Order: sequence, then structure tokens, then C-alpha cells
Amino acid sequence: MNASKPPTDRTHRAQRTRATLAAMLFCAFALYMAWHAAHDGESRPVDEMLLPAAHGEGPAAPDDAAARPELVKRGEYLARMGDCAACHTADASRPFAGGRAISTPFGKLYTPNITPDPDTGIGQWSDSDFMRAMHEGVGKGGERLYPAFPYVEFTRATEQDVLAIRAYLNTLAPIHYKPPANELRFPFNQRWLLMFWNLFNFDEGRFVPDPKKSAEYNRGAYLVKGLAHCEECHTPRNFMQGLKSGERFSGATQAGWQAYNITPDRAAGIGGWSDEALVSYLVTGVAVGHANAAGPMAEVVQNSTQYLSAEDQRSITAYLRGQRPVAGGVTRSRDSYGKPANDDVTTLRGATITSVNGAQLFVANCASCHNWTGAGVGASAPLAYPSLIHNSVTGAPSPSNLTMTILHGVQRQTKSADVLMPAFGSELSNDQVAAIANYVTKQFGDPRASITPDEVAALRAQPQ
Ligand code: HEC
Ligand code: HEC
Ligand code: HEC
Repeated sequence: MNASKPPTDRTHRAQRTRATLAAMLFCAFALYMAWHAAHDGESRPVDEMLLPAAHGEGPAAPDDAAARPELVKRGEYLARMGDCAACHTADASRPFAGGRAISTPFGKLYTPNITPDPDTGIGQWSDSDFMRAMHEGVGKGGERLYPAFPYVEFTRATEQDVLAIRAYLNTLAPIHYKPPANELRFPFNQRWLLMFWNLFNFDEGRFVPDPKKSAEYNRGAYLVKGLAHCEECHTPRNFMQGLKSGERFSGATQAGWQAYNITPDRAAGIGGWSDEALVSYLVTGVAVGHANAAGPMAEVVQNSTQYLSAEDQRSITAYLRGQRPVAGGVTRSRDSYGKPANDDVTTLRGATITSVNGAQLFVANCASCHNWTGAGVGASAPLAYPSLIHNSVTGAPSPSNLTMTILHGVQRQTKSADVLMPAFGSELSNDQVAAIANYVTKQFGDPRASITPDEVAALRAQPQ
């Protein structure tokens, strides 16, 4: 809450003027976007058709006691797919009770409690209230919800699947907890303004399978464009923070991290990865010789994609492979850079660290795990210390993920391994982090990538 003085007439007038201004601005945006929409051929289908065979069983009967455990189990799987727990859990001892701060360019939002608690959660919501939130982005009181709740994607989920998620959420322990109020700046605290946002950035409607594609592809499309909401991070945004439908999956920035281009382009995207590598990345967080999942993607793997069924793994791969490649001028793949260091830098180990010498700092802080050659230790085993050579983070044109990894380390728990790289943020200064990052990109990655201490400071300031 901001503890401002009681509003005076003058502040009221100022607020009204600002509101009018904001409304005018939004109308201008609206006209501009309308023009764009009219000149952009791609329009998404808005239809109520349900997904056919790819889905398996027919409509579930929620009141049929025998069908219930199955329904709840499916709901749990789908809730993982939608990663509801990630955003709606602030404290592991209060799962789904909300309170996690989500930073937006307009201020902070706190996620609501979605446990079945009647006072602070959604215990009093009917199934249709829940459906309306998931499909239309409208809350119980009819208020418009902020799109930080990914209803832009969730709208594509079938009614059956939404009801299955609801059935699962109903089985959670109700937690009495009221999350803090949002801290959004004016005019973004005016929910009604979302009307304009929705008009141009939100197509309400269920997924429509493409009859020309296989059931596998359609199932992948249903998940990726829907509950799994991969585009929330991997698709760039327009000035209104809406997804740019013309550049789907071509990469975007998320809380200081680059969610890389995952189109099938061989240089800019993941066209050079085998299906096995892609599946391995989604299920374990490791694709040997390509990438490891840190930051927001480590969370996605931990909470969501590690649980993918074998069938859904294949569907998601098939769908991603079938997307339009976006090169964006990139001519060499991130994971093709680097060679092991060959001048033995371990001799630097004994020397006192007097300056910000990248090689020295690397030997002192990183080489015990990644080896002074950068080749890692046991690089193809699970629980290995990965090679920094042929690694998308060191070969990326921007060293931001490398820097974020140094600052925050890597934490990722999956069925296959408990992965931990320590965070160096509190031990190393911005100069030191920059020196290590620049040494690592020069030695093991794309030598053109570099970062200044000020840029490290800016990344450090990003709330995680
Ligand atoms: C990327 C973060 C994120 C994910 C993932 C997410 N939510 Fe949310 N959700 C939010 C935010 C933020 C809000 C609050 C929006 C607002 O205040 O307008 C919200 C609001 C809601 C609401 C409305 C609650 C209320 O009290 O108004 C429901 C219901 C909900 N989410 C259910 C889900 C379910 C079910 C899933 C998984 C399928 C899910 N959410 C996944 C961020 C998320
Ligand atoms: C919350 C944001 C977020 C979501 C949601 C998300 N990703 Fe990511 N993704 C990232 C980030 C950030 C990275 C970079 C991770 C790193 O550098 O360690 C990444 C990396 C990847 C990579 C590796 C690319 C490379 O070259 O290193 C793949 C593949 C990928 N994501 C696929 C997916 C798929 C498929 C989905 C949906 C199921 C998805 N992601 C959902 C943020 C996200
Ligand atoms: C205690 C061992 C340890 C130390 C010390 C260590 N790392 Fe790591 N590093 C790891 C582990 C474990 C991973 C994650 C492996 C995985 O994802 O499976 C990792 C991952 C990485 C990645 C890949 C991240 C990604 O998103 O793909 C980079 C880059 C990296 N480390 C650089 C460094 C640098 C630079 C230092 C020194 C400042 C350092 N590491 C210190 C163990 C370590």
C-alpha cells in the first residue's frame, strides 16, 4: 500500500486529467493496433470445438464418483502443465495460496490464493466462475484480470480440461491467507482499462485443431499454445505488452533472462537439436552439447515439463518442429561456439587476487566444477558439471543469461537429479562478475559478447 496523503481536490482533478489522457492514449493505441490487425493476415480461430481423438476419453462427468479420482489425477497433470503452482505459491509451506510478487513494467502484482479456502481463496467460486476466469480473464466479481495471469493462452483449454483442473484444486487443503494488495502505478491500477488491452491482445476462444495436421501435432499445439503457455516467455511483445503473433517463439526477455529463440531455425533457434535432445531438455533440464535450464526455465522444468507423458513429449516436439523458423539475422548457432582453454591458467591459482582479472577469478570461483579448460566434469552424466563450450548460454550474442547464472546460480530439482550451482551474487562485485563473464565468453563462447559492470548492476536489480 502506498501511504499517500488523503487526496485533495487538486489531486482529484490531476487524477481525472491523467485518466482522460490515459484513455485518449489507449484509444490512439487502439486505432493504431486496429490498423495493424487489419493489415495482418493471421487471425486466430474463435470456436467452441473440442479437441477430438488426441484427447482420449470423452467428457468427464464431474458428479460421477467413480470418474472422480481419474478426473482429479488428470487435473493434477494439467495443473502442472499450466504451472499454476509456480505463480500461485510464494512460500513452499503455503502451496497455491498466492502472494508471489509478479513484476510488470507497470508495478507489482501479487497472485491470488487459489486454494478452496472460502474467505481468502476460491472456495466460494462456482465452476462457471472458474471457467470464466480461465477462458475470459474475468474474476468472480466481473472485474477484468491482468494478463500476467496467462489467460491469453489458457482460453484455448477445453472446458473438460478446465473442469479437471478445478476438480484437482478442490482437493487441495484450504489455506487461510490473504495476499498483499497490488502495487500498480496509475493508470495501470484501473482494471477497466484492460478492456482496451483485451480488445487488441486477447482472442477469447478454444483451441481449434488443424485438420491438415496429425493428431500428434495438434495435441502439441493445444499444449504449447494453451496450458503450457511457452509463448508468455518465448514470444516478443509489442509496446502494449501483448504477444507479437508474427514473431512467435523467436525469443524475448523475462526478468533479466533471455528466453531464447525456440523456432526450428538451425542457427537462431533449435533446428540443430535432435528430438531426443529437446525432450531431454524439457524433462531433465539438460541437453548435452546444447543447453542447461537455469532461471525461469529451470522452474518450468521443475514444476511442469518434467512431468510430461511420453506421448505429450512427442507432441510438443512435433509441434515446435512445425513452426515457422525465424532467423533474425543470426547465422551461427549459440551452441556451436567455443573450444577448451589450452594455456594452463591454473598457475594463476596461487597468485593473490589483486585486481579484477577474469581468468584469475574464473580459476578461483568456477574451475573447481567447470574445469579450467571449461570442459566441465563428467559432462554427459546426470548431475555433471556442464561444459561451458557448446553451451547456448556462453555462445549467445548477449551474455545476460551467463551473468544471471553467475549472480543467481542454478537450482533445479527433478526426478532425475537435484542440480545446484551456488549463487555468486553476494560474493562478487559487479566488476568481478563482468570480468568473469567477459573471460568466459572470450574463452569458451561467442568472443563478441561482452558486458560492462553497469549492465551487470542493471541485471542484478531485476527482481527474480
Ligand atoms: C505466470 C503466472 C501465473 C500462472 C502460470 C498462473 N496464474 Fe493464475 N493468476 C496470476 C495472476 C498474476 C493473477 C491475478 C490477476 C489479477 O489480479 O488481475 C491470477 C489470477 C488467477 C485466478 C483469479 C483469482 C481471483 O481471486 O481473482 C484464478 C482462478 C487463477 N489465477 C487460476 C490459475 C490456474 C488454475 C493456473 C494454472 C492452470 C494459473 N492460475 C496459472 C498468475 C498466474
Ligand atoms: C517463465 C518463462 C518461460 C516459460 C513459460 C518457458 N520458457 Fe523456455 N526458456 C526460458 C528461459 C529464460 C530460457 C533460457 C534458460 C537458460 O539460459 O538457462 C529458456 C530456454 C528454453 C530452451 C533452450 C533454448 C536454448 O537454446 O538454450 C527451450 C528448448 C525451451 N526454453 C523450451 C520451452 C518450451 C517448450 C516451453 C513451454 C512448454 C517453455 N520453454 C516455456 C523461459 C521460459
Ligand atoms: C559447485 C560447482 C559449481 C561452481 C563452483 C560453478 N558452477 Fe556453474 N554450474 C554448476 C552446475 C551444477 C550447473 C548446472 C548443471 C545443469 O544444469 O545440469 C552449472 C551451470 C552453469 C552454466 C550453464 C547455465 C545455463 O543456463 O545453461 C554456466 C554458464 C555456468 N555454470 C558458469 C559458471 C561460472 C562462470 C562459475 C564461476 C563464477 C560457475 N559456473 C561456478 C556447478 C558449478
